[in-house]
Amino acid sequence: MIKTKVTEMLGCKYPIIAGTMARISNPEFVAAASNAGACAVLASANYTSPDELRMAIKKTQSLTDQPFAVNINLFPAMMPQEKLVKYVEATLDEGVKIIETSGHKAPEDLAPKFKEGGTIWIHKCAGVRYALKGASLGADMITVVGYENGGATGTLDIGTLVMTPSVVDALDVPVIAGGGISDGRGIAAVLALGAEGVIMGTRMMATQECPIHDSLKQAFIQAAETDTSLVMRSIRNTHRVWSNKAAQQIIELEAQKASLQEIVKAASGQNAEKMYKEGDIDAGMVSCGQGVGLIKDIPTIEQLLDRMMNEAEEVISKLQKIST
Ligand SMILES: Cc1cc2nc3c(=O)[nH]c(=O)nc-3n(C[C@H](O)[C@H](O)[C@H](O)COP(=O)(O)O)c2cc1C
Repeated sequence: MIKTKVTEMLGCKYPIIAGTMARISNPEFVAAASNAGACAVLASANYTSPDELRMAIKKTQSLTDQPFAVNINLFPAMMPQEKLVKYVEATLDEGVKIIETSGHKAPEDLAPKFKEGGTIWIHKCAGVRYALKGASLGADMITVVGYENGGATGTLDIGTLVMTPSVVDALDVPVIAGGGISDGRGIAAVLALGAEGVIMGTRMMATQECPIHDSLKQAFIQAAETDTSLVMRSIRNTHRVWSNKAAQQIIELEAQKASLQEIVKAASGQNAEKMYKEGDIDAGMVSCGQGVGLIKDIPTIEQLLDRMMNEAEEVISKLQKIST
């Protein structure tokens, strides 16, 4: 059994964070991942009001007694600041013990609220300078994602292999790292780089419990590590996504120097939701990391996490044997 500061502090069985995924990380999915041993993260941005978020938290609590977190998305396009505060208050009122913030600009004004609320605050970002800022504001843990990752990649384009030890060396708090983790080898590698836990998003999509259409899961099994693209860099919101027709359309709009509104419309979450529900795999943009090339099946989350952790342990003991 692998025990780290992440399993110790968060109280989860495995040092795995099932990363928040907009329009996917709902109570059922989060509970399934937490019940399987991860610490999963409910996406507060899925909810249009603090009351809806409260209901989702209550629902999650009714489905699991295992630790889970709530993500507060700091990207200004996702939610205005006044609303963010209300979401944080709702999360704290409902007794959630772990809050994850994501976005480069660590939230100076919210940090005291996290402390007063007695939560464990994890700040997720993509760069040493942002990690240092989060830690200086009192984050209890920092999550960093390398350039391979699905979703927001930031602007620095540093891969997980360099990002992780750079952040580990720079900080005193435990580091969770990810970007490209799809199997137990990836977990062992990131732990070897000094992280206390891993975060996974893309791999979690090809699981039985993930609330997306089976045709997208099947497409992910067929995909190679070369099948992702970076989009929205022109509007300073770079995301790594699956290279489908919707992504291609955004790339073309950017090449034509289209307006912010046109690009945002093409990248809209409603299109993604249509794809998730109806199964037209070209209907919307979907975040997806390079680790998609390592996905070969659609297990239950429990099967996936057990298998990955067994594999990580095997890798670690194999490495011990080759050291004379
Ligand atoms: C479909 C999808 C949606 C995501 N949505 C969000 C989000 O809304 N907020 C966020 O902070 N991260 C989001 N992420 C990033 C994940 O939480 C996680 O950090 C990332 O997927 C890890 O890299 P990996 O995909 O290589 O495993 C998303 C990732 C995916 C694949």
